[in-house]
Amino acid sequence: MRAFALFFALVFSLFAEANAEDGHDLWLRYRPLPAAAAAREHRYVEGASAYSHDARIVAAAREFNGAVAALLNIVPNAAIEQSAGEVILGTSADLKHEFPGLHLDTSGLGAEGYLIRSVAVNANPTIVVTGNSGAGVLYGTFALIREIQLGHSLANLSIRSTPRYALRVLDHWDNLDRTIERGYAGPSLWDWATLPKIDQRYIDYARADASVGINGAVLNNVNADPKILSPEYLAKVAALANALRPYGVRVYLSVRFSSPVEVGHLKTADPMDPAVKAWWRSEADSLYRLIPDFGGFVVKANSEGEPGPWDYHRTQADGANVIADALAPHDGTVFWRAFVYSATKEDRAKQAYDEFKPLDGHFRNNVIVQVKNGPIDFQPREPFSPLFGQMPETHVGLEVQLTREYLGGDDGIVFLAPMWTEALDSDTCSPRCGRPVKSTVTAMAGVANIGSDRNWTGSNFNQANWYAFGRLAWNPSLSPLQIATEWTRMTWGNDPRLVKPVVATMVNSREAVVDYMTPLGLVHQFQNDHHYGPAPWSCNLSFPSWNPCYYNSANSGGIGFDRTKTGSDAVDQYAPPVAHEFAGPNTVPEKYLLFFHHLPWTQRLRSGQSLWDSLIVHYDRGVAQVGENRRTWNSLRPYIDPQRYAQVSNDLDRQVLEAWWWRDASIAYWQSLSKLPLPPGHSSPAHPLSYYQSIHFDTVPGFKIPRIDARTMCVAGRGGPKCAL
Ligand code: GCU
Repeated sequence: MRAFALFFALVFSLFAEANAEDGHDLWLRYRPLPAAAAAREHRYVEGASAYSHDARIVAAAREFNGAVAALLNIVPNAAIEQSAGEVILGTSADLKHEFPGLHLDTSGLGAEGYLIRSVAVNANPTIVVTGNSGAGVLYGTFALIREIQLGHSLANLSIRSTPRYALRVLDHWDNLDRTIERGYAGPSLWDWATLPKIDQRYIDYARADASVGINGAVLNNVNADPKILSPEYLAKVAALANALRPYGVRVYLSVRFSSPVEVGHLKTADPMDPAVKAWWRSEADSLYRLIPDFGGFVVKANSEGEPGPWDYHRTQADGANVIADALAPHDGTVFWRAFVYSATKEDRAKQAYDEFKPLDGHFRNNVIVQVKNGPIDFQPREPFSPLFGQMPETHVGLEVQLTREYLGGDDGIVFLAPMWTEALDSDTCSPRCGRPVKSTVTAMAGVANIGSDRNWTGSNFNQANWYAFGRLAWNPSLSPLQIATEWTRMTWGNDPRLVKPVVATMVNSREAVVDYMTPLGLVHQFQNDHHYGPAPWSCNLSFPSWNPCYYNSANSGGIGFDRTKTGSDAVDQYAPPVAHEFAGPNTVPEKYLLFFHHLPWTQRLRSGQSLWDSLIVHYDRGVAQVGENRRTWNSLRPYIDPQRYAQVSNDLDRQVLEAWWWRDASIAYWQSLSKLPLPPGHSSPAHPLSYYQSIHFDTVPGFKIPRIDARTMCVAGRGGPKCAL
């Protein structure tokens, strides 16, 4: 018996707005395939039926029929049951009962994998999408839609896929007043004032997540407001959980470590205090009564002013475990962030490892220590964090940032898959070489770039980073080229005259940004607070490692941070073969040179160029690439709808200016120190250094002064002396 019938009114209302080219449709932009291709594939697809009451399979059928109605320009056949062209959706258990003659091997698909197979049912050619759960069928259905969008043949399908990581989570840094920390796409998607009322945008958000396999959403900022645990907000959270559930997206919350005091009115948040343990337990119990599939908590502790276990002379593991114990009976997870540093003299790049490495094996099984890709903070380029591969007794998750805090916000085109695959593919050599980061982690979290802008992400091309995150969290071995190609074809169209140049632009875009912002391993050269634009000269913040001058260590003699034995010896945190490679100025990959080495301006590099000349060449290469990307976009006008064409043109115009600004300001400053002439053929900055130093913005999106509590910030860990700020 088919459990769900199709109602076209519903299908078409869901896609009613699909015609406006304002970017809202994302990659789920179901536009008619060319007539010949549509006619060819129509043979295989008449319509989908859900052989299940599972809400995710019902949602999958609705999505599929809406998609093929538009893509193949057909009216899906509501009475398709068991005739040619039926797309059968159901779990293996559903289908075993319904089609005893079908032998589908779903072993090895786990909880979320899928199988798409062309089969014959009663001699009728049919496509089956199945898995061991509704989630698997949902992901398989989106994969089948993708095949159609990409114009792939639907004949003889046999596709099996399982996600590499069980937890693929977006972290929304959204505040309850709807501002977003590091958000460049308008106010928060979550309208807390009108929730629990459900907006269609929440459902569309969940559809997009599901289409790339994202299965969790942390709703609020890691710099958490304790109010999120109040009954008023939890009712709103529960409503969102209900809305996202049919798309397989579980809801998580960021919580403040001091919640037992702020919400529970206890005297302490000491994780060893029995009353605190009991409070977390009863809090978790009542949360799960409200949201039975609640995902868990994210905690930022003892970092940038947030409270944490150090305030009670306890370890990060003590802090994580008290919350983990409360969640464990419900199968909940604690994402415990490893992003800690304080105002000690120690190199900031070393602090997370120093803190967490000795705690390996001390975390509960339902704790994931969430580590940013690099040891500093989402820079355009950093080496991988030494924690990867070196906490073998702990679940470690990789955190990347989709929102471009340090990459120009929504200026131009910056596709981040190359950055993330660089981290995922880095060989930790731990415990032996051949163990890349991707095989050492068990989860991926991405700091979301989504807001309430009509196009979701502020710029159309930032959507690609949402898409890429989901695809890589499902399969970290996909190449940036493949991801960019899929996204481009689904988002802009299949015309090869546009696909090739757009993909080429995307794939080169991250290297261009590194070149014009922070080449050769420089990091953190950004204006204070909002991180938009260059300020390599900046040196007056009281917290040393917030200053660009700390990271560049530039002076008349040279530039770069010495992290070898003669400096902070951060290289020693890596496994010996990696440490050895990074420690030598002639063996370290040139892209990380100044991250690990302080060198004279005149140092000869392996290329034969001097460091000074090479720096200038990189800045100019970045500027030139962005200029070329702008011209490429110009040439695409005939193939792109006018509205999105104009939006991207605007974004690229800003990026061209931004690239020149970075290049000129940086060179002007370095030259004030090195006193060296520019190599022949490279132009001097347009203005004197003082001009760049006077650039100041009062309003830059994405920055809200964080709550800095000097007291907590300065407890130099575990009983050490208090520092003075
Ligand atoms: C960066 C960012 C902050 C954020 C922090 C974090 O430092 O600038 O806004 O709160 O990362 O990851 O917690």
